[in-house]
Amino acid sequence: MQKDIVVSGIRSTGFLHLGNYFGAIHNYIKMQNDYNCYFFVADYHSLTTHPDPKDLKQNVFRVAAENIASGLDPDKVSLYAQSDVPEITELYLMLNMLAYKGELEKVPTFKDKVRQNPDNVNAGLLTYPVLMAADILIHRAVKVPVGKDQEQHLEMARNFGNRFNQRYNVDLFPEPHVYRFDEQTVKIMSLDGNGKMSKSENQNATIYLNDEAETIRKKMMKAKTDSGPTEPNSAMPDYIKNLFDLMDLVSEKDTAALFREQFNSCSIRYGDFKKQLAEDMIRFVDPIRIEALELQKDEERLRKILKSGAERARESAVQTLTAARKAIGINYY
Ligand code: ADP
Ligand code: TRP
Repeated sequence: MQKDIVVSGIRSTGFLHLGNYFGAIHNYIKMQNDYNCYFFVADYHSLTTHPDPKDLKQNVFRVAAENIASGLDPDKVSLYAQSDVPEITELYLMLNMLAYKGELEKVPTFKDKVRQNPDNVNAGLLTYPVLMAADILIHRAVKVPVGKDQEQHLEMARNFGNRFNQRYNVDLFPEPHVYRFDEQTVKIMSLDGNGKMSKSENQNATIYLNDEAETIRKKMMKAKTDSGPTEPNSAMPDYIKNLFDLMDLVSEKDTAALFREQFNSCSIRYGDFKKQLAEDMIRFVDPIRIEALELQKDEERLRKILKSGAERARESAVQTLTAARKAIGINYY
């Protein structure tokens, strides 16, 4: 039986964090044995904010290294840099002809960026969902493991694919859908309770996969708490629930159960709770951090992995693009 095709990407805009791990990479690892997976570093997507050219390569290699260190096996999946597969940009151009200014301007992530950076509202930012659709449709993927924040983009990818099929009367693009294993782990909030953990914002309240033990301890100690519950079995405030959610992900089951009991009986000491969470987090992050650093020293190995990933990705991309060109009528010779 043919395996379902899976695509996902992570932008090379900074260090990966627990949100990327539990929202995305964790799912990649679970899927790598059972599906035909294409995972890539979205370096073109990172250009919307005009990164310094001398940082680009290092950013791309680091994201690749952090994925592998987290458990992604480049022999099982195609791991590549988006810019190594030019067919994606050609499909992006074709899809741009079917994407309308009005619908792109309505996308919440676009509106957020406009609010944050009113001086840099470039066309690449506006057409971000079109490039993302091309990333996915180029392999005719049906499953896309991404965090909750990407659902709207996926809906647009479905719309663009369907529009192409209808306009050219073909059955080229299947509908891609968000894929995840359990509802619990899709959004990791930042430690100060303000928004989600992110590569570029809230850095002191985000745990990065390359944070050293001392940094993690410091960040955890600053995590927002209060003076504790006064009534047994009180509802948890969001920022406390968030810490418990993190504990469920990185600590032993018994540990989380013990602190929950203490919360319910109003005997919890948040200092101890956070100390324990910090130590468990260090135990989780440290092996990834160390292996990612080792891998980044071995540039030759990373280069080979990315090149071979791109070769495999291009084999699939060329087939789709040839069919798309033919559908449009670009087959002159
Ligand atoms: P960031 O938003 O940190 O720059 P990306 O936009 O590159 O990260 O996202 C890469 C993947 O990680 C996407 O699938 C996204 O949904 C997921 N992701 C990012 N932040 C979080 C978070 N805090 N919780 C859960 N998933 C997240
Ligand atoms: N837009 C995604 C994000 O910000 C990253 C991304 C780009 C992506 N292209 C993709 C994710 C294709 C899945 C599939 O997180």
